[in-house]
Amino acid sequence: MEKLKGLILSGGAGTRLRPITHTSAKQLVPVANKPVLFYGIEALVEAGVTEVGIVIAPETGDEIREAVGDGSALGASITYIPQAEPLGLAHAVLTAEEFLGEDPFVMYLGDNLLRDGITGLVEAFRRNEPDALILLTQVLEPEHYGVAELDGERIVRLVEKPADPPSDLALVGVYMFKPVVFEAARSIEPSARGELEITDTIQKLIDTGHTVEQHRVKGWWKDTGQLADMLEANRLVLEDIEPRVDGEAIDCKIEGRVVIEEGATLERCTVRGPAVIGAGSRLVDSYIGPYSAIAPGCEVIGSEVEHSILLAGASVSHLPSRMEASLLGRNVRILRAEGLPKTLRMLVGDRSEITLA
Ligand code: TTP
Repeated sequence: MEKLKGLILSGGAGTRLRPITHTSAKQLVPVANKPVLFYGIEALVEAGVTEVGIVIAPETGDEIREAVGDGSALGASITYIPQAEPLGLAHAVLTAEEFLGEDPFVMYLGDNLLRDGITGLVEAFRRNEPDALILLTQVLEPEHYGVAELDGERIVRLVEKPADPPSDLALVGVYMFKPVVFEAARSIEPSARGELEITDTIQKLIDTGHTVEQHRVKGWWKDTGQLADMLEANRLVLEDIEPRVDGEAIDCKIEGRVVIEEGATLERCTVRGPAVIGAGSRLVDSYIGPYSAIAPGCEVIGSEVEHSILLAGASVSHLPSRMEASLLGRNVRILRAEGLPKTLRMLVGDRSEITLA
């Protein structure tokens, strides 16, 4: 088979992850202190796919270009493909037609994470050479996903977020296509939500007699498009980290799988892993609980943080209760003032969400 190209979709509106996505790309939110998007690029490279196009949106494209560069640090050669509007996954494919040309390709949704990568999928594609290969996994609430109806191993129908799901097999955000997909994408109409859907495109391939095969995911899969899934992905990735203390920990208790990066300083803290503390962070008199990822340059003073992600430069101090299941954006500051009156004083950006218990 000819060479395979990669296409990572990293545009989109990211409405479900506001307000983080007002100022930043959701694909750059760190999971265990590494941007989600980097896991995708690494998965492609590991499967031998190094020529990669990244679809970007006007609002967040520059930030993605800056973070990924030419891709050489990750072993890839990157071409950026601007998509003027988020008109759907199949629209993104059409936008990338010139880059993809006549080559078969892997399409990877830039906010998706697969524990065991995509090598098995790519091998199956090379072996059988179908027109399209989709990746499926069993999920608990199929009504929230694109769902496949099978007859034995054969795919009969794909439906996007069905009220009455025909199976519990959801489409994972990685697909493989031959160039015939362009013709199919061009022949469909936008869905009720106004997008050119990839499920409709694949359905079109099935209906026009093309071979569409399926492959099952082995390890876990996460779509990090919303907060709960982002935290869950962070938890799953942290489960596998190799402990390492390169920073300085004075009078601290470090338990379990913990990474403390160079230049981080901790004083009188308890860190219970799995957790990662980024370079140059300062933690004093605090408790960092399992499944926390503290990015570089954060500050945690006199506080308890658990099962949370802090982006670069975030700071929390003297919180009256433990913070958990939280995602703090860059340079967010949360602090408790001394003295009376005991009031809440806030400067909170659009669509932020704060829960006080
Ligand atoms: P989604 O998460 O399905 O869509 P979205 O990013 O618009 O988010 P939301 O539903 O919260 O508004 O997109 C999956 C991936 O594909 C994600 O990385 C963004 C990307 N994408 C594009 O690149 N172009 C598009 O037109 C769309 C819809 C998504």
